[in-house]
Amino acid sequence: MCGIVGYLGSGSALDIVLEGLEQLEYRGYDSSGLTIKTSEGFKRVRAEGSLDHLKQKIEKLEGPLGIGHIRWATHGTASLENAHPHKVGKIQLVHNGIIENSEELKTRFKYNYQSQTDTEVIASVISDFYSRTGDFFQSVFETTKLLEGAFAFLAVCEDEAHSIVGARKGPPLVVGFGKEKEFFISSDLPSLVQKWTSRVAFLEDGELVHIQDGRCQFFSSDGSLIKKKIQTIQKEDQAKGKEDYAHYMLKEIFEQPHSSLRVLKAYTEKGQINFSSPLFQSAEKIFIVACGSSYYAGLYGKFVLESIVGIPVEVDLASEFQYKSLILKPKDIVLFISQSGETADTLSSFHQVKKRGVTCYALCNVRNSSLDREVDASFYLNAGLEVGVASTKAFTSTLVLLLLMALNKQKDHSLVSQLFDLPFLIDQVLSKSEQIKEQAVLFSKYKRFLYLGRGPHYPIALEGALKMKELAYIHAEGYPSGEMKHGPLALVDQEVLVIGLAMKDFYYSKNIMNLQEAKARGGFILTIGDQNHKSVADQHIEIPSCHPFLSPILEVVVLQLIAYHFACSLGHDVDHPRNLAKSVTVE
Ligand code: F6R
Repeated sequence: MCGIVGYLGSGSALDIVLEGLEQLEYRGYDSSGLTIKTSEGFKRVRAEGSLDHLKQKIEKLEGPLGIGHIRWATHGTASLENAHPHKVGKIQLVHNGIIENSEELKTRFKYNYQSQTDTEVIASVISDFYSRTGDFFQSVFETTKLLEGAFAFLAVCEDEAHSIVGARKGPPLVVGFGKEKEFFISSDLPSLVQKWTSRVAFLEDGELVHIQDGRCQFFSSDGSLIKKKIQTIQKEDQAKGKEDYAHYMLKEIFEQPHSSLRVLKAYTEKGQINFSSPLFQSAEKIFIVACGSSYYAGLYGKFVLESIVGIPVEVDLASEFQYKSLILKPKDIVLFISQSGETADTLSSFHQVKKRGVTCYALCNVRNSSLDREVDASFYLNAGLEVGVASTKAFTSTLVLLLLMALNKQKDHSLVSQLFDLPFLIDQVLSKSEQIKEQAVLFSKYKRFLYLGRGPHYPIALEGALKMKELAYIHAEGYPSGEMKHGPLALVDQEVLVIGLAMKDFYYSKNIMNLQEAKARGGFILTIGDQNHKSVADQHIEIPSCHPFLSPILEVVVLQLIAYHFACSLGHDVDHPRNLAKSVTVE
C-alpha cells in the first residue's frame, strides 16, 4: 500500500525516482507525485491516477535529489490535493502507512490543511519543530515520537539541498548504496536490487536514516547513532516485463509449470523430500496465520497437514488473530504465510506470537522481506517475482510447499513421485486457456457467482471466488458444497452461475448431489473435474485425473483463467484491479 522512493547522487534524480515508482506501481495507483531539487529549488509535480498521468505532466527537471510516491488511498479520495508529496512550509514529505492520531495532531498543530490525508500533518509537525529549531533531522526525530500508527516516510527540507531523512515504524524501508556518495531509498528490496544496487541496509522498526552531503547515517528510536550492516543481496534470476503476454497476470498464470517445479526442486533431492529439519516432530498443534489468498492456501495446508502428519491445525486470519486471546503452548508451531512478507496484519500477528517464545516459521516468496528476516526459519515459495496484484503463481507454489512440508519425513513417498507430474498436468490445464476464454465471455449474463467444493476443494472454491471478485468486480462466494442447504440455496436462481469443483474422488457423489440441488433451483452449473457428469453440468471443463492432494492445484489454475478471461471481456485492467494494491502494509 503506497510506495515511496528517494534518491541522492550524481545521476538524474527524476529518471531514478520515476523508475522506482514504476517498480512500485503494484503498491497503489490512485495517484503519484514527486519532488526534485533543481537549480531553481524544489519542483513538486503530482497527478491523479496512474503513473503515466504523472509522466505526461513532467517536462524536464534536472537535479541530484528527489523523493516520489505512488498512492493507495487510505484517508481522502484519489484526488490531486491528496496526492503526495505533501508540503508544509519548507518541508515536503511522502508517506506509506496510517497515522492513527492524525486528527488529534491536526488539532494540536493548527495549519490550513489542504488535503484530507493523515500524511500532511506529519509535514506540518516537522515544519512546526523546524521553524522553532532550524534543525531538520532533529525536527523529524521529534515528530516521530508523536506519531501513532504505522509509517515509512521520506522528508526533504527546502533549506537543505542535499539531505533526505527517512523513518520507519511498520511498513518497510530499504536503503541502497550505489556508486560513491549515491543513495537510493525504497519501499521494497526488489526495486533496488533489480535496478540499481545489490548493497542494501534495512531500516528496522523505530529507526531513522539521514542521508546528507554524501553520507548516510542511521539512528535508533532513542536518537543514538547506530552502525548498520550493509548486506549484498543476489539479484533474482528473473526476467522482468510482460514478454508477449497481454498482462502480467496471464504471464504469471502461464509460469506455473515452472514455478511449481522450482519449489519442488528446492525442497527435494533425488526424488526425496529434503527439509533440513523434521519441521513438526515435537509440535502438539500447528497454527497457520495469513491473509487473503495466503489464508486460503493455509486452509488447504490444514487439510494436508492433518491428513498426512496427523497434528491438529488451526488456520487464522491474521487481521483477527492479532487481536484475539492467544492460547499458545510452548510446543506449538506457527506458520505465517505471506507472498510479500510485508502484510501488516501478518507481521503484527507474528510480533504477538514472537513475544510468547513460540517457534515461528514463514512461508514467503520475497526473500529478505520483514517477515523473512525476523522468523525462526523461512521456507521459500520460489515463485519468482509476482507483479500481478491478484496472486496466482505464489498461491500454487504455497500449496505445493505446504504439501511438501506435510510429506516431509513420511515413510510413504509414492505421492512424491506424482508431485513431479504436476508441472505437466498444469501445462495440460493451461492448454485449455482459449476454450476457457470462449466460455468465460458468455458469463456476463450472470449477476452472481457461487463456487462450491468439499474437503481440499473448498479452499479452492474460496480462492476462485476471490479471484472473480477482485478482477471482475462481481459478487462471488465460495462455499462448502454441503452447507448450501443451510441457507445460501435461497440465493440460487437463473441469475446465478454455480461453479462446482467435482473431481471423481472421495467427495464426488456428494458434490454432484449438491450441484443437482442448485440446478433444480435454476442455477447454471459449470463443473470442473476429470469426468463430465452430463446430467448436472450445463458446461464442463475437463482437467486431468490425479491424486486428490494435487487436483486442487489444477482446479485453481482453471479458476484463475476463468476470472482472468472474464475480467478482460469486461474491459478491466486485470493487473491493477480497482481499489487494491499488492502489498498491504496497513491494517
Ligand atoms: C489476492 C491476493 C491477496 C493476498 C493478501 C496477502 O489475489 O493476492 O488476498 O493474498 O493480501 O498477501 P501476502 O501473501 O503478501 O501476505
